[in-house]
Parts: sequence; C-alpha cells; structure tokens
Amino acid sequence: MDTLAWNGPLPRHLAIIMDGNGRWAERQGLSRLVGHEQGADVVREIVRTCRKIGIEALTLYAFSAQNWGRPDEEVTALMSLLTRYVKSERSEILDNNIRFNAIGDLDALPRPVRFAVEELVDASSEGKGMVLTLALSYGGREEIVHAARRLATEAAAGRLDPKSIDAGHVEAALWTHGLPADVDLVIRTSGEQRISNFLLWQLAYAELWFTEVPWPAFTQEHLFEAFTEYGARERRFGELASRERALC
Ligand code: FPP
Repeated sequence: MDTLAWNGPLPRHLAIIMDGNGRWAERQGLSRLVGHEQGADVVREIVRTCRKIGIEALTLYAFSAQNWGRPDEEVTALMSLLTRYVKSERSEILDNNIRFNAIGDLDALPRPVRFAVEELVDASSEGKGMVLTLALSYGGREEIVHAARRLATEAAAGRLDPKSIDAGHVEAALWTHGLPADVDLVIRTSGEQRISNFLLWQLAYAELWFTEVPWPAFTQEHLFEAFTEYGARERRFGELASRERALC
C-alpha cells in the first residue's frame, strides 16, 4: 500500500510496545539478537511512515527499566544496537525535521548510548515535523515516583503549595512533559495483551490495539489496520456517546 494513500483518521500521539523480537527469531532457529536487529529495521520503516502521514508524536518502548534483568549478552547487544540506530538515523531525522526525544532513567544507560541520545536530542531540538520519543530504561511507575519526588522537593522548599497540586503539575513533572499529554492509540505486537509498565499516566484514555504479528514482521499495512480500527471507535473520555447526548 502506498504511504500517501492513507487519509483516514490519525491518532495525534501513537505509542508502540514493540514485542516479539526474540520469539520471531527463535521460531526460525536464529539468535534473539537477530530478532532485535530486524526489529530496528522495522522501527526505521514505521518512523518514516508516521512522519510522512502526519503523526504528531510517536513514542516507542525500546528498553524497559525491567529489561536490565535480561542476560548480560542481550543487554549489551541491545545497547550497542541502540547506539548504532541513533547514529545511523541522525541525518534522516534532521533532514525530515523530526524532534528526537528520550524518556526514562537515562543516567542508567552506558555512556555511548547516553551520549549519542543526548547529542541527537540537542541537535534536533528545533524539529517541528514529528516528535519521536524512545523510552529507554523506562518504567511508568518509575516515572510517577520521579514526578512525585520532584513535586515533594518543590513543596518542601516552599515553592509549591501542596493543596494547589493538580493534574497539570503532575504532567509537567513527568518525563513526557512537552509531548501531547495523552496517548491516543497504543499498539502492542506479538499477542500479549498487557501494558507492561508503559506510560501508565498517559494511557488513561488511550485506545488499545493488539496484534498477533511479532514486531520484526510488522509492516505499514498492519499500522494502517490499527488506524482503521482506531477511526471506527467512539472515544467518550468518560462522557456520554454522541447518540446518547442527542437523546438527553
Ligand atoms: C521486545 O521483544 C523488544 C525489546 C525488549 C526491545 C525492543 C527493541 C527493538 C525493537 C530494537 C531496537 C530499538 C530501536 C529503537 C532501534 P522481546 O525480546 O521481549 O521478544 P520476546 O517477547 O519474543 O522474547
């Protein structure tokens, strides 16, 4: 399908849990690391498509706070892959006016990854086309704890009245501050139907779309399938459906 053919409804903020790299590789008798390499190629294609069709914010779960518990060999390979990805995509990201962003406990990352990430975050900071966020050493609970500490520190220093704290203060203290606050659609590949500590605050009213397709086999056609279903859903945000409102 031609990318330019898509003109249906689009989420402003799309988030993806890219699952199934390891299983995809193992099923073919390959090492899990090959699955991650293929996964990185799919990231490149999906970023291109999202940029072309006008997605405003794309957030990818690339490495969770819990992924540190994987075998050293896999963690090292993923870190090296992330460093290579950031360096190899640098010029395409800049040429396409993409703002590159990262959320998570970035201090926990090995220096080569952190430096490559920070360099591209800086270099692309004026990008107005799409914001591409990688969640790295990221956990939703960890993010909320971090935000709570920041707000408590402000309150303890007398700069913030605890009684004035509202959702806006919390959003401003989250790692995602500066992004469209809410995620509209989250896609999870490879059959699992759970959120796995991803963007817990930001997913409050997100539509969820699950597919059996593992991330290394995910294509633009699958993405458009998700958008088609997204466009057919009625988002109510806790209020009444429009036909029910009409009856009131
Ligand atoms: C889940 O598959 C995927 C990850 C833990 C990492 C995601 C990384 C990539 C898609 C590649 C690198 C990313 C970028 C941005 C270049 P899994 O290993 O949990 O698969 P499994 O559930 O089948 O074991």
